[in-house]
Amino acid sequence: MSRILDSLTLASGLMLPNRLAKTAMTEGLAENGRPGLELQTVYRRWAASGVGLLISGNVMIDRDHLERPGNVVIDRMPDADMRTRLEQWAEAAKSSGGKVIMQLSHAGRQTPARVNKHPKAPSAVRVDLPGWQFGDPIALTEDEIHAIIDRFGVAATAAREGGFDGVQVHAAHGYLISQFLSPKTNRRNDRWGGSLENRATATALVTSAAYHHTRNPMYLGLVAFLLAWAVYLAVPWTLIGPLAFVLFITRFQIIPEERVLLQKFGDAYKAYQRQVRRWI
Ligand SMILES: Cc1cc2nc3c(=O)[nH]c(=O)nc-3n(C[C@H](O)[C@H](O)[C@H](O)COP(=O)(O)O)c2cc1C
Repeated sequence: MSRILDSLTLASGLMLPNRLAKTAMTEGLAENGRPGLELQTVYRRWAASGVGLLISGNVMIDRDHLERPGNVVIDRMPDADMRTRLEQWAEAAKSSGGKVIMQLSHAGRQTPARVNKHPKAPSAVRVDLPGWQFGDPIALTEDEIHAIIDRFGVAATAAREGGFDGVQVHAAHGYLISQFLSPKTNRRNDRWGGSLENRATATALVTSAAYHHTRNPMYLGLVAFLLAWAVYLAVPWTLIGPLAFVLFITRFQIIPEERVLLQKFGDAYKAYQRQVRRWI
């Protein structure tokens, strides 16, 4: 029987030193969207508790769609200052041997009105609460949806390069991804709305973008192809080159999660794959 202090290896291969985790709790401690000393201090203290996993609070992928002022924002590849700050944050969170995962989020229509009076959302459906806490949402265009998906990927890459052990896509609590999932907030009649599969497409593609950008399978595929080609040119009488190519393509091009996405989302997912391949 496993015990709470036994290590735990997640399906991704990430090994947690024990089974205690701190769940995501929004901090509101960023300095103009950047992590600083206060975040380092609180994460170093949480790490010192001995907990095996710390999950950050909302890190927003769009500065116009915060969950609250004071969120960390990663909406582009970090400059040198941001890179250092992310590294220092991750280092503090891992200072006692535990792991750290960054939660990525977009508030959509639940962006506070003081941040944005006209936030973007799947459909123009206001948050049905008294008061004027949230603004009047505007429905996203197809291009804007793709840009958001891409930004989740960029933020995931920044997290990985900053030393975070993974990312968690926030798809709950009424924020953008769950706005896509719910028929109450998603009234679209294009490929992002309607059936459950359509409403779940954004979730699948955001997750896939984070995965693609962090693992960069196309890059690995390309490197493999060039290597295989070089071997083939050097020793054309052997089959090593083509065999290595096939091996690398099957190993890196189609990842298990992709098989599931392909089965579930078919054409929508294939179209997205094509787009990702153009970008990488
Ligand atoms: C102060 C506070 C901030 C929170 N911030 C986030 C957040 O940024 N992201 C998130 O997914 N959940 C957030 N949550 C929800 C928690 O992660 C957790 O799911 C919730 O508190 C239920 O767990 P509990 O019953 O142990 O409190 C927050 C909760 C609290 C109390």
